[in-house]
Amino acid sequence: MATVELIDLGAGSGVLAAGVCRELGGFFAGQNTRPTFRVWALDLWPMGPKRFFAQRDVRRFTDSLTIIKADYRDWLSADEPFPPARGLRVALASRFFNNLSDFQIDSLSPAQIPWLRDFAGSDWKNCLPSRCLGRGQPGASALLISNSRAWIGGGRTFKQVSLSQYYRGLYTLMHPQDADEPLDTPADRVFLPRRRFRRSALRNRDGGSIIERLNDWCDLIVVQDADLRPSDLRAHCDRAGLSGLVAIDMTKQLGLRGHYCYALGDSRDDALKSLDGQRLW
Ligand SMILES: C[S@@+](CC[C@H](N)C(=O)[O-])C[C@H]1O[C@@H](n2cnc3c(N)ncnc32)[C@H](O)[C@@H]1O
Repeated sequence: MATVELIDLGAGSGVLAAGVCRELGGFFAGQNTRPTFRVWALDLWPMGPKRFFAQRDVRRFTDSLTIIKADYRDWLSADEPFPPARGLRVALASRFFNNLSDFQIDSLSPAQIPWLRDFAGSDWKNCLPSRCLGRGQPGASALLISNSRAWIGGGRTFKQVSLSQYYRGLYTLMHPQDADEPLDTPADRVFLPRRRFRRSALRNRDGGSIIERLNDWCDLIVVQDADLRPSDLRAHCDRAGLSGLVAIDMTKQLGLRGHYCYALGDSRDDALKSLDGQRLW
């Protein structure tokens, strides 16, 4: 009987870790092996993870579920955040570090947005609701509202130029000193929200590396994140001097759009190298 341990950072409802137990448990059961799972669900505000682990097809494989209500930077700063491992131990950080991303509203000139011309033709303001949605106007098909993401100024935004006036209102509240122009006369500025990865999300309370800490306690770290680019991960590991780590970028292989996915572990672990993905270093 093999033991697999999951440390789920920002577990929320725990549905992800419970799904891993169900799927992996079912897979191994089909191979006549019976794995048993020990799970630590860590969250600032856990959302009742017990209910998913009470399901029959999860419960039959789960040996223990420990719910930790804490900030991950506090918990991982402790000398012994977890007991010694009894089997393969995997840390999961799914859609987690991006909770701490930086958000701001940018005021941009149309020339700063290369993809704008493709959509809006000569005058981007033609996609504003005031020019599309009135009687005799072209209608909703002229709006530029898309959930595809695009890069601007070192961060990501949605291609939602038709909401520029809405974002302009938020911008004005945040920068009252720039509010000279009335909101109903759009200046030739486009207002869009921008988010980007915050470096300190990978830092402990004492400035140490969260990745290093997880690597001390786990065999494998799996990170799925909206904002953590390969270059951010690389810069973090370089700064923290984590030369003994291997990082595999599995984003493409998993067909993810809008999120990155990485596996990190000790470079001496050959199993990691067989993972399907692009080795970052
Ligand atoms: C978007 S949810 C992700 C839930 C789950 N991992 C998933 O992929 O479905 C992010 C979770 O992170 C938790 N969280 C945010 N900041 C945190 C912190 N500083 N320490 C611990 N948990 C935190 C939130 O409470 C929330 O449950």
